[in-house]
Amino acid sequence: MSWDQVSLPAGWSLEVIREVDSTNLELQRRSDVSHGTVILAERQTAGRGRRGNEWHSVPGESLAFSVGVRPEASRSQWPRLALATGLAVAEALARLGLEAEVKWPNDVLVRGRKLCGVLVQATSEVAIIGIGVNVNQTGFEGEIRDTATSIYLEGLTDVSGVDLLGLILSELDGWTRQIGEDFPLLVGRLRQRCALTGKRVTLKAADGDHAGQVTGISDGGELMLMTEDGPRAFLQADEVRALG
Ligand code: BTN
Repeated sequence: MSWDQVSLPAGWSLEVIREVDSTNLELQRRSDVSHGTVILAERQTAGRGRRGNEWHSVPGESLAFSVGVRPEASRSQWPRLALATGLAVAEALARLGLEAEVKWPNDVLVRGRKLCGVLVQATSEVAIIGIGVNVNQTGFEGEIRDTATSIYLEGLTDVSGVDLLGLILSELDGWTRQIGEDFPLLVGRLRQRCALTGKRVTLKAADGDHAGQVTGISDGGELMLMTEDGPRAFLQADEVRALG
């Protein structure tokens, strides 16, 4: 694959590494990561997912990369990057013709199955956005057998990793700029791609487990739930499971 042909947003850079433990960890080890530093690994030996999970990616079958960003928005608004990233990937997939949805906060689903996972880790200076996309897998095994999908399995059997990466980075550049004043625009688009609205879910939050029906996403990006005890809004949750 000729990664040097990837179309990059202005000022961004791409480094491709044959093998690394995790692209997120690799960026964390570096000092002075400039805005738009992209590291892509052909193989990750210790890929990380959310909630301390492992993230397995088979070389040639998936994209595994991380982007260092330094948003202009205030530091307190950086948690919104998770929503911006899920939306960016969903929009990139839509440009390829796939009906992608975002399972709040940032899993990307097609036909209800997970096609992409996002792990954002921020320090005081830089946010590291890790993205894993299932591209060419022809099937999945174990726990994720019935819950994961790939671009190939969704019928696009000839998508170039170079084009896909370029599309995602272009969308990421655009949406990550919208976590400040323009956040309502981002949320408006996210509502159109929300996989959970109307669904009954269980959710693990800092104050315990909750169950209810998702009524939507608030202007601040919170997941809104109608629970037995009344309406609740969650800015963060460890795990959201859709029931039924
Ligand atoms: C999740 O859904 O749990 C998040 C998965 C994030 C995986 C990506 S792959 C590139 C980057 N490097 C990592 O170790 N993790 C992220």
